[in-house]
Amino acid sequence: MQIIKSIDSLRQTLAPLAKEGKRIGLVPTMGALHEGHGALIKASVSECDVTVVSVFLNPIQFGKNEDLDKYPKRLEADAKLAESIGADFVFAPSVEEMYPDGDPMTLVRDEALEGMYCGAYRPGHFRGVLTVVSKLFLISGANDAYFGEKDYQQVFLIERMVKDLNFNIKIHRVKIVREESGLARSSRNEYLTDEERAQALGIYNGLKAAHDAYAAGERCVTKIRDIVVKSIVAARGAVQYVEVASQKNLQKCNGVLAADEKAVILVAAFFGKTRLIDNIELN
Ligand code: PAJ
Repeated sequence: MQIIKSIDSLRQTLAPLAKEGKRIGLVPTMGALHEGHGALIKASVSECDVTVVSVFLNPIQFGKNEDLDKYPKRLEADAKLAESIGADFVFAPSVEEMYPDGDPMTLVRDEALEGMYCGAYRPGHFRGVLTVVSKLFLISGANDAYFGEKDYQQVFLIERMVKDLNFNIKIHRVKIVREESGLARSSRNEYLTDEERAQALGIYNGLKAAHDAYAAGERCVTKIRDIVVKSIVAARGAVQYVEVASQKNLQKCNGVLAADEKAVILVAAFFGKTRLIDNIELN
């Protein structure tokens, strides 16, 4: 496994492989890899001939008061983990390599959803994500790219971008990887104290309870949301948002869910200073 830091050398390395007809899989990450990322890498390794894991802490998707500076960084351990799963390359460019002229002036935006759910509380976040993901798609020329459903709005927006802008790449969704307790794996779980980590189970317990209620016939959006909110509050979490959205277009659902409505519950909540997100599909 090779660590590549420059755009030119990644292109020069991958071009002949693409020419030979090798299928190239890309797994974009910000590093601090865990089993959630591991599932994406595994999927790429099993489906593609060549797997590239990008490790780039993308400054333009972080707000001024967010955790860019304290985000965990450990490239060597990340490369080892990627290698152990079978990745062929880690692409780890510097900020200067990706943004040589400072913040880019050309940005990719989703005008409908960039201000909703996470986007409502993280202005500029999704345009930063869509812009860097576009760059990674163009730099790598990958045939396939892998994203986790943990970041449900993110993967939805990437799928829509690929369709809207005719990127020649196939997007694969990978299910949420959870700890045994049910807590969704996240690089940000490292910020939690032991007490907060136990409290944070309130998110998944709430989502599960809401899912159970749905399975038992509950279709009232307010009642479904309330189950999740109550669980988080009882666990001493602070809810940022709990919404029920359509899986098809990610618009908010209100009133009573139609019999054929495929919905998803989207959550963001704070435990201490740590912001966590999670979701569950209602099928
Ligand atoms: P990051 O948070 O490092 O996540 C990289 C990928 O791993 C994302 O597709 C995310 O959904 C997936 N992932 C994280 N935790 C997961 C879990 N528990 N189960 C399944 N998948 C999980 O998301 C980003 O980085 C960035 O926004 C990025 C797309 C790389 C653009 O900078």
